[in-house]
Amino acid sequence: MRLDQITRANPVMPVVVVNDAQEGVDVGRALVAGGINTAEVTFRTPAAPSAIEAMKNIDGLVVGAGTVLNAHQAERAIESGAQYVVSPGFSADVVRVCQDAGVPALPGCTDGSLIMAALEMGLDVVKFFPANILGGVSAIKAYSAVFPGLRFVPTGGVSPSSLPEYLQMPQIAACGGSWMVRRELVEARDWATITSLSAEAVRIAKENGR
Ligand code: 3PG
Repeated sequence: MRLDQITRANPVMPVVVVNDAQEGVDVGRALVAGGINTAEVTFRTPAAPSAIEAMKNIDGLVVGAGTVLNAHQAERAIESGAQYVVSPGFSADVVRVCQDAGVPALPGCTDGSLIMAALEMGLDVVKFFPANILGGVSAIKAYSAVFPGLRFVPTGGVSPSSLPEYLQMPQIAACGGSWMVRRELVEARDWATITSLSAEAVRIAKENGR
């Protein structure tokens, strides 16, 4: 699946940390129940590959890998069935592994040089992380002026209250965030709150033209 298809269907992309595969499945089901059809499962825990494998069987869920820091993790993510690969920064090695496998890469590019490196590799969507600290919408506006055609996935500090200003910008493909899948909700097995925060995010996205 192409990245633009994934972001069009999912203007909000949850960033998930799970400690085991079953947790991933429960989170994935709670997201889908709230109308969110993707989850970025981060390689911050060793459970990521098994969680991705288990979650890809959930109907209607496109499972990606996140916090992918090197080529080895990118290979693991793709072997596990990740349908896109997100990194906090830009690694040409990671992008190459993804491109060789035909899986979209979404590297974090936070300055002009990193954006140019991504463009040179043929990418037209980049992650912008941590968006809130790096200037949010105004920073993305400034980069959009010099990189026409490029689209961004701001992540980091995005919340229901900042979501509208991001999603109103056509240069923003989607927003990443963890507010609907916070660790304390997962630890409390509070799937109902994950579902209702997901539904709220989808409603906000719709109200803002997505
Ligand atoms: C990420 O990995 O992109 C961030 O942890 C998500 O940021 P947030 O937790 O501030 O939403």
